[in-house]
Amino acid sequence: MILNIVGYGSAVLKKVAEPIDKDYPNLQELIDDMFETMYNADGVGLAAPQINLSIQLLTIGFRPYDEDTDTFGEKIERVMINPEIIEEKGEKILFNEGCLSVPGIHEDVSRPESVVVKYLDRNFEEHTEELTGMLARVAQHEIDHLMGKVFVDRLSNIRKTLLKRKLGDVAAGRMRTHYRMRYSTKK
Ligand code: NI
Repeated sequence: MILNIVGYGSAVLKKVAEPIDKDYPNLQELIDDMFETMYNADGVGLAAPQINLSIQLLTIGFRPYDEDTDTFGEKIERVMINPEIIEEKGEKILFNEGCLSVPGIHEDVSRPESVVVKYLDRNFEEHTEELTGMLARVAQHEIDHLMGKVFVDRLSNIRKTLLKRKLGDVAAGRMRTHYRMRYSTKK
């Protein structure tokens, strides 16, 4: 089932999400719905707060692009429950990010090139994985969502000021999207 995506400015996107355990109701179905919602919106990552659930769950899915051969590789997918970044590695690098909750805005964001993440998969098996490249980037963006942060929060004050009007339009639901969104007036 395709779920509505919550827009920037909604209260749920500013909250720290709660960890979950095995007893969380209909979890497998929820994860499938998140993948369906994410792919339907042409997203590469989705965090549960973006579907109005303040829980520590995220999905990632994309085919990595290889610049040298101009082709896409095998699909990479992850489900992360209660994820935690335990180590940051390498240089901080800029990468152009967007977000399904912030349609129409793409900005360069600085983040570490690699991270070690500890998380549970959909079967509640624990993994400690070093992520690099696109996977590291998407995971950090989605883990931010679980901490109540959106990528525009990481921009400089100057960039934020320049984006103020556009962000206001997003928060007011004035952006067109090809996927369904919901807005909450609660701050
Ligand atoms: Ni996002």
